[in-house]
Amino acid sequence: MAQSQIRLYYKNVTSEVIGEENGITAGQLESLAKETIPVISQVNKERRGGKTPYRDLPYNAKIAASVKKLADRIKEQCENFVVLGIGGSALGNTALQTALNPYMHNLDGAQRRGPRFFVFDNVDPPQFASFLDWVGDKLDKTIFNVISKSGQTAETAAQFMIVRKLLLDKLGPTGFRNQVIATTDPKAGTLRKIADEADLRCLEVPEGVGGRFSVLSAVGLFSAYMCGIDIDLLLAGARDMDTKVSCEDFHKNPAAINAAIHYYFYNRGKKISVMMPYSYALKDLSDWYRQLWAESLGKAKDLGGKEVHIGPTPIKALGATDQHSQVQLYREGPNDKIFTFLQVNNFNGDIKIGPAPECAAELGFLAGAELSKLLNSEKKATEYALAADKRPCLTIIFDEVSAYTVGQFIYLYEVTTSIAGALFGINTYDQPAVELGKEATFALMGKSGYEKLAKQIRPFAEMDKNFLI
Ligand code: PA5
Repeated sequence: MAQSQIRLYYKNVTSEVIGEENGITAGQLESLAKETIPVISQVNKERRGGKTPYRDLPYNAKIAASVKKLADRIKEQCENFVVLGIGGSALGNTALQTALNPYMHNLDGAQRRGPRFFVFDNVDPPQFASFLDWVGDKLDKTIFNVISKSGQTAETAAQFMIVRKLLLDKLGPTGFRNQVIATTDPKAGTLRKIADEADLRCLEVPEGVGGRFSVLSAVGLFSAYMCGIDIDLLLAGARDMDTKVSCEDFHKNPAAINAAIHYYFYNRGKKISVMMPYSYALKDLSDWYRQLWAESLGKAKDLGGKEVHIGPTPIKALGATDQHSQVQLYREGPNDKIFTFLQVNNFNGDIKIGPAPECAAELGFLAGAELSKLLNSEKKATEYALAADKRPCLTIIFDEVSAYTVGQFIYLYEVTTSIAGALFGINTYDQPAVELGKEATFALMGKSGYEKLAKQIRPFAEMDKNFLI
């Protein structure tokens, strides 16, 4: 049976719908196509030259096999699966679970196809303490998957060091070894060193794949498989999308159209990109997208070293919830945004609305309708209202939310990001600006070698009480 395809709908960015001042005309779209075609070839060439190894992850049978082999060995004994990681080492894991497991899966064993699932991508003391209190007597049934390419990331290292001590104290060295799995660089880095020394079981963050492009490697696949997600289907969906996004015919390539439209509108003052899923299942994919877009495209310098300070700002919203918090601004505030709705045609389950109480006949219009009809009507209504105010809107249409369509979505957005980065003329794959904050944390925590930085930070770290009321 043919698998369901996600589609991109882009009529509501055109001048036909939102007028010439704000929309793109057919002629402008043609010029944009001409500008983008060589960029698609360049991105394809970079892939063939091995510069973007994330592109080949969906074809890597070895990774899927290693994930399954390890997971199948530990699944029986695992009631709780905990990811310790941050940024690209966490967001994809969360997004996959929210998309592909039922909302109540952690609380209801009948809805669960694997262990309970938790991600800690912060160092919030009460949050982590509450979890550790809960898990304290279940440690031997809990697997901690520490994910860090470098092993130097302070947040992940701190979580790991807390868990390591707890496991060593309660279960001893064998228990520690049994309950921890490290996902890290195959050769280098602090976590690799720790894992080798403690003889931990390991999975690999593939070489040359940055955190935010790593969800289709063991980084995201392991927790997904452990929790019952069909990773073969996920990867097949990504491969399916690969054929579309590699196509050098602009009009047939959804990643090229998506990237080019964002690039076009960015250059015409619409520098904010709002992603608004009308589906709870897809809500954390917009979190994942936010990191992918922000870290990849927000750059001070272009490839020639010229200062450009470029980058569209990604915002996440959730329909219908955020209609009641953000849409006032989106319609009447500055016309500086492009919107991407995520629409689901067939939800995994539906609910009929009950009859209206007799005293509230005015609610009769809702009675007997499916919730999906209401949610999708709200999506159309919001898009209509935004377009009426001349705001450009795109929609990604999911016929259904499945591992196959989610795999397509992930790959579509990864390649959209690569093409957008090439259009902006920046290095999509580095994140130099994250470094200063990381180093300042080292300095504030007293890491040796960072004494000079610690001195420089002092005036900022110690508040000036003249400015404190
Ligand atoms: O996308 C990225 O490269 C980052 O978000 C990293 O994933 C994040 O900083 C965590 O790094 P590490 O995996 O080295 O702990």
